Amino acid sequence: MSKKPQLTTSAGAPVVSNETTKTAGERGPALLQDYQLIEKLAHQNRERIPERVVHAKGWGAQGTFTVTHDITDYTCADLFSEVGKQTEVLSRWSTVAGESGAADTERDVRGFSLKFYTQQGNWDMVGNNTPIFFIRDGFKFPDFIRTQKRHPKTNLRSPEAMFDFWAAQPESVHQVTILMSDRGIPVSPMHMNGYGSHTFSMWNKEGKRHWVKFHFKTQQGIKNYTNETSENIIGSTREKYQEELYNAIEEGKFPKWTMYIQAMPEEEAGQQSYNPFDLTKVWPHDDYPLIEVGELEMNRNPENYFQMIENAAFSPSNVVPGIGFSPDKMLQARIFSYADAHRYRLGTHYEALPANAPKNSKVNHYHKDGSMRFFTNDFGNPDAYYEPNQYEGPVADFSVKEPPLRIDGDADRYHQDDVDVDYVQPRKLYEMFSDDQKERLYKNYAAAMGPCSDSVKERWYAVLEKVHPDYAAGVRNAVESLDTDVNTVPITENTPIEDS
Ligand code: NDP
Ligand code: HEM
Repeated sequence: MSKKPQLTTSAGAPVVSNETTKTAGERGPALLQDYQLIEKLAHQNRERIPERVVHAKGWGAQGTFTVTHDITDYTCADLFSEVGKQTEVLSRWSTVAGESGAADTERDVRGFSLKFYTQQGNWDMVGNNTPIFFIRDGFKFPDFIRTQKRHPKTNLRSPEAMFDFWAAQPESVHQVTILMSDRGIPVSPMHMNGYGSHTFSMWNKEGKRHWVKFHFKTQQGIKNYTNETSENIIGSTREKYQEELYNAIEEGKFPKWTMYIQAMPEEEAGQQSYNPFDLTKVWPHDDYPLIEVGELEMNRNPENYFQMIENAAFSPSNVVPGIGFSPDKMLQARIFSYADAHRYRLGTHYEALPANAPKNSKVNHYHKDGSMRFFTNDFGNPDAYYEPNQYEGPVADFSVKEPPLRIDGDADRYHQDDVDVDYVQPRKLYEMFSDDQKERLYKNYAAAMGPCSDSVKERWYAVLEKVHPDYAAGVRNAVESLDTDVNTVPITENTPIEDS
């Protein structure tokens, strides 16, 4: 008798054959009663779920976060409660615009998501490899993403739409500068930083609040590809990141990041020349230095990619006591949007899936039935299915509430368009670039803007002019000499450029 396990139906009964259809006679048609054939075909039809509306292409791993420095002055969050404390983490990195089959080494912002399975529930850090973003109002997000996706008629990506939109939102120039810089094509997720980007809050056990920014700096070094090298790579493999990441972890070369925070005392918000809750701005390191917190090591490939990475539901709304939101209005839009996306993409009780279920805290809620209710929540007493009840059902804990936050001002829709402060930080970034980096920046723009109409180009040059006249002139020259310059750059070997 074979030692192989017995194949069964999904109801657990032994299967007679997994390759021959039951037919009426040797040459006859299939019988409808061949339930296993129908079941097999029906399951195949349900193997795909909607891809993420953004960040559809991704790569993930499992690992551990270890606290190396004490930040209990800033937060009472349990995961940071003592040096040496370890927390299991799930990560997913992604490109933003491409579909789930898109090539890995395209020029794009990269998503940087972490789910910390803490003893007080899951904390999700859903950031990017950039410390800022293109827009600062969630109202604009669907339009922005529309410009990144395919044109309704041509079904092609549209540089015209991208630059038309950006030119009308000059606050985007900070992020577009990073996107067009060397950092627009990281060598792999292992060679890029992660940032929470928004301002969040932390409060300590005395109830003192700080505004904070999260930073995860790669220990592998920042490494990027040029356009030419990335085109070369895409010609040979579209899955470069998956290959690199998977193999590195299988070979025991575990990627690591150092976590830092920047912390601003609550009462200091408003004393800066910029709005500290504006997602298009960083906090300069000189003003708010990086405070070391811990080390992230990703050291396990998931046994099943779909189960752990495709099914993963990261959401900025997943915070734990000691970590909170800020008045950043983009963040509030995100707090709504992700869980809504998850209910649509994964199903009602998506949080009970293995990737999302808290691993180190007990789940006690009164959500009831619906698809995917494959968990029990009767708390040992079936009568405790509503609240309040007399049956010792779970109750809320007022002691974990965040300290009160004073909010004032008139309810209104506040425009903040084309203000000088929007050009200060992009200028500083541009001035940091070496001559070589600037040359590559110009050429990357030329490749991206080449197909745009003259009117869109002129509008974008006008934005760049406000950042720095040399920036505008450099991009204009590169675009105007496109045929002779960019298209004749030789295909190089796959040599990454390292940040200088
Ligand atoms: P600092 O000199 O202290 O910091 C400069 C930062 O720029 C470093 O964090 C560095 O990252 C990062 N950097 C270098 N090259 C690039 C690039 N091509 N794309 C994006 N970031 C890059 O000065 P400030 O804090 O005053 O910041 C100056 C400018 O640097 C900002 O206006 C902003 O554009 C950019 N920046 C600032 C960050 C911040 O949190 N303050 C974070 C990232 C960028 P690394 O250390 O990893 O090499
Ligand atoms: C994914 C919405 C801004 C980072 C998503 C998804 C939605 C969404 C609906 C898909 C979620 C899913 O199906 O699992 C929004 C909205 C935004 C916004 C409405 C603005 C109002 C941002 C910003 C960042 C960001 C500013 C980074 C700082 C990510 C990442 C993912 C993602 C990393 C992929 C998560 C994963 O790996 O599963 N976003 N987003 N988004 N978003 Fe945003």
